[in-house]
Amino acid sequence: MSKVIKGGTIVTADRQWTADVLIEGEKIAEIGENLRGDEVIDAEGAYVIPGGIDPHTHLEMPFMGTTAAETFETGTFAAAAGGTTMLVDFCLPGEDGSLLNAIDAWDRKSKDQICVDISYHMAITGWSEKIFEEMASVVNERGINTFKHFMAYKGALMIEDDEMFASFKRCAELGALPLVHAENGDIVAELQQKYMEMGITGPEGHAYSRPPEVEGEAANRAIMIADAAGTPLYIVHVSCEQAHEAIRRARQKGMRVFGEPLIQHLTLDESEYFNKDWQYAARRVMSPPFRSKEHQDGLWAGLAAGSLQVVATDHAAFTDEQKRMGVDNFGMIPNGTGGLEERMAMLWTQGVETGRLTPEEFVAVTSSNIAKILNIYPMKGGINVGGDADIVVWDPKLGRTISTATAKSILDYNVFEGMEVSASPRYTLSRGDVVWAAGQNSQPQPGRGRFVKRPPAASASKALSKWKSLNTPRKIERDPMNIPAGV
Ligand code: URP
Ligand code: ZN
Ligand code: ZN
Ligand code: ZN
Repeated sequence: MSKVIKGGTIVTADRQWTADVLIEGEKIAEIGENLRGDEVIDAEGAYVIPGGIDPHTHLEMPFMGTTAAETFETGTFAAAAGGTTMLVDFCLPGEDGSLLNAIDAWDRKSKDQICVDISYHMAITGWSEKIFEEMASVVNERGINTFKHFMAYKGALMIEDDEMFASFKRCAELGALPLVHAENGDIVAELQQKYMEMGITGPEGHAYSRPPEVEGEAANRAIMIADAAGTPLYIVHVSCEQAHEAIRRARQKGMRVFGEPLIQHLTLDESEYFNKDWQYAARRVMSPPFRSKEHQDGLWAGLAAGSLQVVATDHAAFTDEQKRMGVDNFGMIPNGTGGLEERMAMLWTQGVETGRLTPEEFVAVTSSNIAKILNIYPMKGGINVGGDADIVVWDPKLGRTISTATAKSILDYNVFEGMEVSASPRYTLSRGDVVWAAGQNSQPQPGRGRFVKRPPAASASKALSKWKSLNTPRKIERDPMNIPAGV
C-alpha cells in the first residue's frame, strides 16, 4: 500500500517547493510532480514538513515524591495530535544506581504503549566505577548517545563538578554528547530557605529563588568543564540572557555548545507566578522559572541568529492535586509543566506568524537541528528519499483555541489555556501510518511506536579545546644540582 501526499508545499530546513511525496511502507520513496499512490493524502493549501522531534520529555517520571502523570501512551498520542512524531524521554537511575536497570525500567513503561517513536537520554546522577563501565553499554548496546547531568535539585539528582568532569570525559571517549540542566543547586537551596524564612511560601518564592544569575553561572561552569573534557555540550531549557550569552561566547570561540529554549519560556513570562490564584501559579512552577520579556526577546533572537538551535517542551505533567503537595512550601511543588501537544502550534503562531522565524527556521528548530545533534539525520528530521515517512501536513489555516477539554494530554489543566493558535496538523504520519487526522476522531495506536537507537557520533569527541595543551604536558628536565636540598 503506497500513499501519496498531494498538492502541498514542502518545507525543509533549507527551502520550500511544491511537490508530491510518495510513501512506500515506512519510507519516503519519491519526491516529485504528479506522483501516484494507492491512497491520496490531501495537502492542498498546506505545508508538508518533517514530523516534530521533542528532545525533552519526562513521562511517568518519579520526581519530588510523586510520579509525572503523563503516560507513554497519552504522551505519545498528544505528541502526534500536535505534529510531533518522535520524543526523547529522560531515563533516571533508580535506587540501585544502575544505568542498565534504569533503561530496562523505562522499557517496561513504554513497551506496547507508545504511539510514535521514542528514544531516551540517560541521566548521570552520581559517579562510580560501575557507571563508568555501564556508560559504554548504554552507548554501544542500548543505542543512547546522550547523558544528562542535573546541576540543580540538591540532595536528589544533583551532581558535583568532579563527577560531571569524569562523566564528560567518558562521553568524549564514547562519542556521546553530555547534556546539562544548568542551575547552581547549592545557591538555589539557600535561596529557597531564605525566602521560606521570610514567609514567602507561595509560587512567587520559586521565581525569587531561581534568578537568572544562578542559571548563567551554571551554564558558564558546564561550558568550562566541557571544554576541559574536550566534548561538545548541550544545555537544556535555556531560559535567560545570562545562559544564552555564555553559549554565544563559547560558540564564537569555536566550541560546539548547543542551547535548547522551551516553548513555555518563549511564550509565558514571570508574571504568571504572581497570580493571586495559588493553583494557577503552582501549575506554572518549573525550573528554570519563566522570565521577563527581555529574556524572552533574547531567546527568540537566538533562534533566528542560530545561537540557540532547538525548541523543546520539558513536558513534565503534574496534576492539580500533585501540585498541592507544595501548598505550604513552594519548594515542594513538583517542578514541571506540559506543552508536548502545543509546542509546534504555539511556535508557529508566535514565531512564524509574527515574522520572528521563517518557515524553514521553524522546521530547523522543531526537527532537523535536533535530528542532526542526536545523530539520527537523515533517517529522521527531514523530507528525504529513503528516510522515515515521519511527516506532518501542516495547515496554516487550521486555527483553534487551546483548551484542556480538547487536549489529548492526561493533564487536568493547560498552561496555554485560552490562547489562540493559527495553525495545526491536518495529518500526522509516523513511519507512513496516519496517527492523527484533524476532525476525524483519531484514536491512540499504542504499540506501533518504536525505540530508535542512536549511534555514537564520531564528531562528538572532536571538540576544539583550548585545554588541549594540558592533555599533552611537557615535563621540564632540570639539573639536580640546581634543586635546593631539603624542600
Ligand atoms: O521543572 C522541570 N523542568 N521539571 C522537570 C525536570 C527538569 O528539571 O528537567
Ligand atoms: Zn556542591
Ligand atoms: Zn531540568
Ligand atoms: Zn526536564
